[in-house]
Formats: sequence, structure tokens, C-alpha cells
Amino acid sequence: MDKTKRKAIIAGNWKMNKTPSEAKALLTDIIPAVKDADCEVIACVPYVDLSVALEVTKGTNVKIGAENCHWAESGAFTGEISTGMLKEMGVEYVVLGHSERRQYFGETDETVNKRTKAALAAGLKPIVCVGELLWERECDITEEVIARQIKLDLFDVCAEDVKKTVIAYEPVWAIGTGKTATAEQAEEVCAFIRATLAKLYSEEVAQAVTIQYGGSMNNSNADELLSKTNVDGGLIGGASLVAEKFAAIVKAASK
Ligand code: 13P
Repeated sequence: MDKTKRKAIIAGNWKMNKTPSEAKALLTDIIPAVKDADCEVIACVPYVDLSVALEVTKGTNVKIGAENCHWAESGAFTGEISTGMLKEMGVEYVVLGHSERRQYFGETDETVNKRTKAALAAGLKPIVCVGELLWERECDITEEVIARQIKLDLFDVCAEDVKKTVIAYEPVWAIGTGKTATAEQAEEVCAFIRATLAKLYSEEVAQAVTIQYGGSMNNSNADELLSKTNVDGGLIGGASLVAEKFAAIVKAASK
């Protein structure tokens, strides 16, 4: 396992937070605080914040992502956003299959797969989220759940495209609960994800994929989580809304 072969990525997932003017203010605080980062820094923001976020971060090392996209090029899909719309704006990343989308908006592995393929075809880099429910962990089926999600979400995605895809392991029981997976639990599942990718593709492909941990990651626990061999970065919710906390996580990933 050679972590140095992979790019560490710290991404904020702002979820349904920050109006455009608030987004501008937060990014204005984040930009100087992360300018010396030795990792990739991304802010995934609500659709209505994308325009201002792209403008404010122009010429900086902060990249911008969306929080979802549809798989169709265009059409009668009220409320949805296409990959072409995001691409034309200059968006680079897109979060897909977040557990909140699966839980509250009927997202399935089939739709995550369609969105992933559409994003890749458009030249966007997907951050595909997988993770088990508490009940599934208690029933000792975490690996089955994760393997199923990886296989279905990446169905028909070629090796070259998988290398452009970021996988975020987000145990659902750790999201917004303050309950972080221990560094050992995070490492165990991230290593399992890499082993699954090696089986589906090859060891070379598996070693090239950035795998993040997400779920109550903050300035106090980031160091330990990110020290693990297979944890290449973080997808940060709550702590990404506070510039100093987010910058401290970026610093931990830059060591
Ligand atoms: P929290 O960091 O708020 O637990 O959220 C994690 C998450 O869902 C990131 O996508």
C-alpha cells in the first residue's frame, strides 16, 4: 500500500446551508486559510451558490463541486440540474449518492450509477458516497452492504474512469451525529473498498483511487483518521461550514 501515490482530497459538503452572500463570506475566509495546502481542497455547495463560489475561488487552490446532478442531458425533469449545466459553469466535482439523498429522496444504487456515468461522460469528477446504516453494522453485514454499493454504483464504469472517481466512505450512523468511526473502523472499511476495487478492476486501479472518510470528521479527530493507510481524505459536513475548522482539517491532510 503506497499512500503517496494518491492525491489527498479534503472536500466540504455544505448540504443545504449558506445563501449566496453567506457562501461568498465563508469562502472569503476559507481561501487564505488553505492557500498553502498540500492536498486538494474542494467546496461542494448548493446549486444557487455555484456561481458566486466559482467567481470568488477563481485563481485560488479551492475547487468547486455540486451536491448532485441528473443523468439526462436535458428534458422534463423539473428541479433537476444536468451535467452540461455544471460543466459549462466550470464546476469540477459532484457529490453523488449521499446517504441523505438515498434516505430522504429515494436515491437508489441504480440512479447513483446513472448519475456517476453521466458525470464522468461530461468530464466531471464524481465523489460517490457509500456507507452502512447502524443496524447493518450491528448485524455484521457492513462489508456486504459496501461491496453491493460499490459494485452497483460503479457498474459499467471503465478502469480509466474509476481512477477519476473519488469514493467517500460515510457510515450513516456517523453523519451529523458527533459519533465518528474510530480510525480503525474507518481504515478497515476503506481498505475493504480498495480490495473490492482491486477485485473488480486491478490492484493498480485500486491503488490510484482516492478514498475519503466522512462522518463527524473535525479538527480534533482528522489527524488520526487521515494517518491511516487507506484514508486518503475527508468529506466534511458540519466542520466545513466553519473556516478555521475546515482549514485545520486541510492542514492535517497536508502533513
Ligand atoms: P458531518 O461531517 O456533519 O457528520 O457530515 C458528513 C457528511 O455527510 C459529509 O458528506
